Amino acid sequence: MTAVEIAPPTGKLGVLTPGMGAVATTFIAGVIAARQGLAAPIGSVTQMAHIRLGTREDGLNPLIKDFVPLASLDDIVFGGWDPITSNALEGARAAGVLEERDLAKISSELEGIVAMDAVFDQRWVKKLDGTRVKEIVSKLEQAQALMADIERFRSENNCDRLVMVWCGSTEAYQEASDVHESVEAFEAGLANNDDNISPSQIYAYAALMSGVPFANGAPNLSVDLPCMIDLAKRREVPIVGKDFKTGQTLMKTLIAPGLKARMLGLRGWYSTNILGNRDGEVLDDPENFKTKEMSKLGVLDTILQPSLYPDLYGNIDHVVRINYYPPRGDNKEGWDAIDIFGWLGYPMQIKIDFLCRDSILAAPIVLDLALFMDLAQRAGESGVQEWLSFYLKAPQSERDSGPEHDIFIQQTKLKNTLREWMGEKPVTHSEAG
Ligand SMILES: NC(=O)c1ccc[n+]([C@@H]2O[C@H](COP(=O)([O-])OP(=O)(O)OC[C@H]3O[C@@H](n4cnc5c(N)ncnc54)[C@H](O)[C@@H]3O)[C@@H](O)[C@H]2O)c1
Repeated sequence: MTAVEIAPPTGKLGVLTPGMGAVATTFIAGVIAARQGLAAPIGSVTQMAHIRLGTREDGLNPLIKDFVPLASLDDIVFGGWDPITSNALEGARAAGVLEERDLAKISSELEGIVAMDAVFDQRWVKKLDGTRVKEIVSKLEQAQALMADIERFRSENNCDRLVMVWCGSTEAYQEASDVHESVEAFEAGLANNDDNISPSQIYAYAALMSGVPFANGAPNLSVDLPCMIDLAKRREVPIVGKDFKTGQTLMKTLIAPGLKARMLGLRGWYSTNILGNRDGEVLDDPENFKTKEMSKLGVLDTILQPSLYPDLYGNIDHVVRINYYPPRGDNKEGWDAIDIFGWLGYPMQIKIDFLCRDSILAAPIVLDLALFMDLAQRAGESGVQEWLSFYLKAPQSERDSGPEHDIFIQQTKLKNTLREWMGEKPVTHSEAG
């Protein structure tokens, strides 16, 4: 197999996050801690996973980061925008994910990462009251201001390349409309201040126009729109979305493929969450919750294929609830009551109570998406990066059959993409390590 030509990761990589809340600051703090040798980057596939090459007998299992030319953690520079947070230290303290004993060792570095004024509109996130906001009304001028921020950041930090990962709040639910149909319609919409253009879409537009890959960690529409897909191809920039696959949905995509592999039936899956961070507060608004709900509900159908298995999966009640409960802060509790059935239709129940830490699970995903999106760009890729579906609850897909949700198939696809780019044979069965 012939390897793809991949430009080397020379110089600095700037990682820009619109949103410097719990996830973004936990990501930044973790990378700084890892490069100072204070903690291992646990949960990061780019940093910790091995990849098997050839047959098992060959015994070749390099670390992914030694196999593909990824940017080094030492070469990452952080930046971002936020309408509330002033710098990464303040953001991390307000989020309350990491303890003071961990923040103290890296506090001056975190304090030096100052949030730029955001493009923010309360119509999309009713529960937040932004103060560090660009005083610009025109959406076209907002986009231009973001492009100017990007270029300033690039030159001030001497960055060779940049990537953007949306870590901002979940915006209110919307369906795509005429303004999203083409690049031309979107640009006309920016000029006319079209109501259907949300802030995250303005960031996505600014990133793509600046040649910066864009990943969406939230469930709202941003790059999963015809105009953005087209713009990404025209500007030859990779895009990927959406919604980091962390707590409950991670569990769902681990368990559902197992039930299906054993041909056990599913009658219902009731998922409820209690969380008390700012994300939970934003999702307490029905319009913002609807965006999240739609993203979480899609998972089971594609994994279980009810049309192929009507007897097993043709009649499922799938319910998702999120309740804002301040005492828990970022330490979410996700309850799943799963009603399954087996031989002769006898019912059984599974209960999962996942006491997880949302941002601890999301932070390594931000790192991996940033490094892999940068790699994809250097490998000459553009448009939707389906091989990164592994990290996302509602992966973007350009095929009629839709996205793949089964985490094990997603993992195979991710690793085989890396093998293919490096001129190695794909591994389609057991993955040893
Ligand atoms: N934590 C997880 O496990 C997880 C999983 C999947 C998706 N997400 C999504 O990731 C996003 C971030 O989550 P979080 O826990 O860090 O939330 P958070 O509320 O702590 O942080 C979000 C930040 O975005 C800022 N923001 C809002 N609108 C903005 C704008 N227009 N421009 C720039 N910044 C803006 C807010 O001020 C806030 O500081 C949310 O959309 C969340 O739904 C999180």
